[in-house]
Amino acid sequence: MTDKNSSSLMEKVISLSKQRGFVFQSSEIYGGLKSAYDYGPLGVELKRNIMNEWWRSMVHEREDVIGIDASIIMHTNVWHASGHLAGFSDPLVDCLISKERFRADKAPRPVSGDELPIECLDKGQAKSYLEVIKKRFNIELKRNGKVLLGMRVIDENNIGFFEDDNEKPSATFPYRGYVSPKFGSPFLSDERQFNLMFRSQIGPIDVLGDITSFVEKNKDLDNKEMRTGIEDIVKKSAVYLRPETAQAMFVQFLNCQQSMSMKVPFGIAQMGKSFRNEVTVEHFIFRSCEFEQMEMEFFVEPGTQKEWLNYWRDKRIDWWKKLANNPDKFRYRAHETDELAHYADACYDIEYEYPWGFDELEGVASRTDYDLKKHSEHSGAKLSYFDQQKQDPETGKNGWRYTPYVIEPAAGVTRGLLVYLLDAYHEEIVPNADGKDSSRVVMKLHPRLAPIKVAVLPLVKKEGLPEIARDMVSNFFKAGINARYDEQHSIGKRYRRHDEAGTPYCITIDGQTKEDQTVTIRNRDTMEQERIPKEDALLIIQKRLMES
Ligand code: GAP
Repeated sequence: MTDKNSSSLMEKVISLSKQRGFVFQSSEIYGGLKSAYDYGPLGVELKRNIMNEWWRSMVHEREDVIGIDASIIMHTNVWHASGHLAGFSDPLVDCLISKERFRADKAPRPVSGDELPIECLDKGQAKSYLEVIKKRFNIELKRNGKVLLGMRVIDENNIGFFEDDNEKPSATFPYRGYVSPKFGSPFLSDERQFNLMFRSQIGPIDVLGDITSFVEKNKDLDNKEMRTGIEDIVKKSAVYLRPETAQAMFVQFLNCQQSMSMKVPFGIAQMGKSFRNEVTVEHFIFRSCEFEQMEMEFFVEPGTQKEWLNYWRDKRIDWWKKLANNPDKFRYRAHETDELAHYADACYDIEYEYPWGFDELEGVASRTDYDLKKHSEHSGAKLSYFDQQKQDPETGKNGWRYTPYVIEPAAGVTRGLLVYLLDAYHEEIVPNADGKDSSRVVMKLHPRLAPIKVAVLPLVKKEGLPEIARDMVSNFFKAGINARYDEQHSIGKRYRRHDEAGTPYCITIDGQTKEDQTVTIRNRDTMEQERIPKEDALLIIQKRLMES
């Protein structure tokens, strides 16, 4: 894929995802829900294969990591202790002209002397915004097509309206240091904190009834008091959908460690759904409100966290690269101090070069002993570890009780799925049956990730060929290999369809099969075909999948 094509790569992948059944817009027939996606017949297989590969490398192949599957709804005190109820929020701002709502910390920040053009969608919108600004702020900006001109940043606290290119502003307004991302408007509301967790109510409590009675009884309260009163009623039965899978591993630290007699260093891993009421959902499935994570909390001795952080950073980036066609598109980046989360003393982002540039795929954080200590404080449980073999560094006595430090590789499943779709998409010019150039789209998914491992295609739908093909498919299933019987359309069309599905091997049953018990096996990437004994097909596919 050339650079010229890369800007449309995203559109091509989105379109192929729908056509071939990888990803659909949620509730599409009702106009769609922008922040949610459904994984179709191929998508669900791809997603599970990514998760299975992660589980294999993070849990099954390691003696020092165990797994759990915790509930999505947890005790509300978990979120008090972790800081999510107090701090898991974004600063939100509204544009007073366009009503655009955005995150202040992600907004563009023009500096002193910069022009502040308001870029409207079309002339009609520009005329209507011109009127609103005139009415509300008593200034008349100049319109050039769909752009409104005349404002400039004076300093970090003020913007000015400069009429007819005058040197002195004829009006000044307070400047927040940023403008709205879509229109470039500096006319903004105050910032409000917005909690990213989805709230629900648990139990047979009539919250609306309780609120109604409270409002009726307290009509004299001012707005703030009324809000606090209502908030108190809601909080009594409030529960939250987890915004990360991580907290369960801290809360179940003792149960896991004791039930499996684990010795530090060891890890607890989990994969599953997380939910965030994201203000900005963007780039297809890159950022959505419902997504899936694969996280592991690795508990280490205090003082060893730096070496373990580097260890997991390298392990994790190697894992992503191993399953990709273009390993050069992955890199890691250390967080600056001001980027670090409140619980972390260091962090790396594993990034991928998406069509819009390098962006996060996985975080590998050194979370210190923050979470275990917080949950100990809030619950009263002693979330610590006793190492009989070590001396306590403070007392010098044998045996050391300490709160382990934590290294956390936290990856997004659905974001990973997007990465592997982008990585797999290839367009090629290849000769067709007549030897003429034709283009083919092929999803070069790693065979371990491919939704269908092998398609079995009878050349014609008669002469006993379908029976032979179905028999072979059933043998693949018995061996745990996802195979697919496919008899629709010409053989050429079927090959192309499976190229787009990312199926690494197609086995064709033809007239010769009945004569000499051989079949052809076609390789997705090279398109080469070889004739093999029918009875060897299973072993050959098994071997190729294992060696891939
Ligand atoms: N426990 C730490 C944690 O959750 P995070 O960086 O917020 O850290 C980890 O999330 C990973 O989860 C991200 O690197 C990303 O791959 C994925 N992720 C986070 N928010 C997401 C969203 N709204 N949509 C899709 N994936 C998301």
